[in-house]
Amino acid sequence: MNIFSYFHYKIKLMRNKLFVIGIGLIALISINAIKSDYEPDDPWAGYEPQNLQVLPPDTDPYVLGAMMDALNDALGVKCSHCHTRTDDGLDFVSDDNPTKEVARDMIKMTMEISHKYFKDTEIDGQRMQLSCMTCHNGEATPVMRPAY
Ligand code: HEC
Ligand code: HEC
Repeated sequence: MNIFSYFHYKIKLMRNKLFVIGIGLIALISINAIKSDYEPDDPWAGYEPQNLQVLPPDTDPYVLGAMMDALNDALGVKCSHCHTRTDDGLDFVSDDNPTKEVARDMIKMTMEISHKYFKDTEIDGQRMQLSCMTCHNGEATPVMRPAY
């Protein structure tokens, strides 16, 4: 069993708990984006997600949109890095782009680590947290320093 399937297994056991963690994670990474970027005439208005397997299935579309923008920033990519290109543009519901599944695993991993190890830790009144940016820092594949 690799580490991702291990989390998948645990995630199934922890569905209810994860709902809360998921909301927390989304709120943490996106609260500023929501405030600044998402106005009532936003194109996300009324969007009903159809294929959320890690995030709560009824995630608010503004929160979802803000989170997706945050993924673009953290990895320095465009939406098409994880979503499927079609002749009519991107298909966000489709799972045909394998990177989407990697990203699902990464989201699960990040939530799991945040929940387990960053829960009660505060520095200067700020709650510590792990995010995609912590490791990726704007790169699709985290850049390592050469080991001398
Ligand atoms: C790093 C990978 C990644 C990037 C970049 C990304 N997404 Fe996503 N997106 C995902 C994953 C993973 C899911 C599914 C989450 C789940 O299963 O809970 C998703 C789900 C969605 C959904 C919900 C589809 C549905 O109805 O089920 C929409 C809409 C979406 N993304 C739009 C976008 C847009 C717009 C962008 C660019 C601004 C974007 N995504 C960038 C990984 C990504
Ligand atoms: C603890 C560090 C860490 C965190 C946090 C993290 N990642 Fe990663 N991620 C990695 C590493 C390391 C790799 C590269 C693995 C390799 O190729 O050797 C990677 C690879 C990926 C890839 C595959 C890249 C490719 O081009 O195939 C995606 C997609 C990805 N991460 C998305 C995310 C998203 C989205 C988040 C936040 C929800 C996230 N990661 C959080 C460390 C992390």
